[in-house]
Amino acid sequence: MKVIRSIAAMQRLSATWRRGGAPVGLVPTMGCLHDGHLALIHRARREVGSRGRVVVSLYVNPTQFGPGEDYGRYPRAWARDRRLCQEAGVDALFAPTDREMYPAGRDGFSTYVVEEALGRGMEGQSRPTHFRGVTTVVAKLFHITAPAVAVFGAKDYQQAAVVRRMIRDLNLPVRLVVGATLREPDGLAMSSRNGYLTPGQRRQAVALWNAIRTARREVRARGEMSSATLRRRLKLRIEAHPDARVDYIAFFQPRTLETLRRVRPGAHMALAVFVGSTRLIDNGRL
Ligand code: PAJ
Repeated sequence: MKVIRSIAAMQRLSATWRRGGAPVGLVPTMGCLHDGHLALIHRARREVGSRGRVVVSLYVNPTQFGPGEDYGRYPRAWARDRRLCQEAGVDALFAPTDREMYPAGRDGFSTYVVEEALGRGMEGQSRPTHFRGVTTVVAKLFHITAPAVAVFGAKDYQQAAVVRRMIRDLNLPVRLVVGATLREPDGLAMSSRNGYLTPGQRRQAVALWNAIRTARREVRARGEMSSATLRRRLKLRIEAHPDARVDYIAFFQPRTLETLRRVRPGAHMALAVFVGSTRLIDNGRL
């Protein structure tokens, strides 16, 4: 496995691979890898085949964190991440420095890619500059690694939808593949941020997954429900946990992300909940 720090070196390597007829599969991450990330890496391998090359990018992107968010304390586990990538058969681990990605610093960087529809609600409402940072860094990573396929996780459902729209709108020659959400045995979606939780908070964190299951059961039993009623019930159940506070619970059409007032089976649900000071998100089909 090659470990690459410089953008020029990554671009050269990718160009060489492509000229040799090897498609590149990219898995963008912020590191502190867990089984959810590893499943995406294996998916990338399947997508590009044994002749293809798998690139994992590991970069904690400052522009997608808002003021007061966890950028400074986002977990870093370089030696372990490197070993996991090596063991997973990754061909290149692209881990640029901040000076490579933003050489003029944050203040000297002024060109962004902004998706203006799908990224407005939910995460975009709670974290107003988040998706601008994501689309910008993902566009940069696409230009640097020139992937034929990019693999994202369903855990960040809205992020995948926003990236899909960016690819379409800007004619980027990348095929987007979305891998399923990997969960802990109790149902909590795997996340690098789960490590922030105290043991007591960790037990309460299953409330997100339980809310999705409850919503699914209720909607399937009734055939149709008002989103306001369902949201009120779920919020009560979640906030019965002493450290849990709902940020949002949303019901929407899975492709357009259009908000639904009546929720039927097949609708999609997403939610964000603070457990203590840790903000967790999850989503699922009802
Ligand atoms: P990060 O949170 O590290 O996630 C990297 C990828 O792993 C994303 O596509 C995310 O959806 C996926 N992922 C996270 N948890 C998962 C799980 N439990 N099961 C399956 N997939 C999971 O998302 C980002 O980084 C960043 O925004 C990034 C796209 C790298 C841009 O900076």
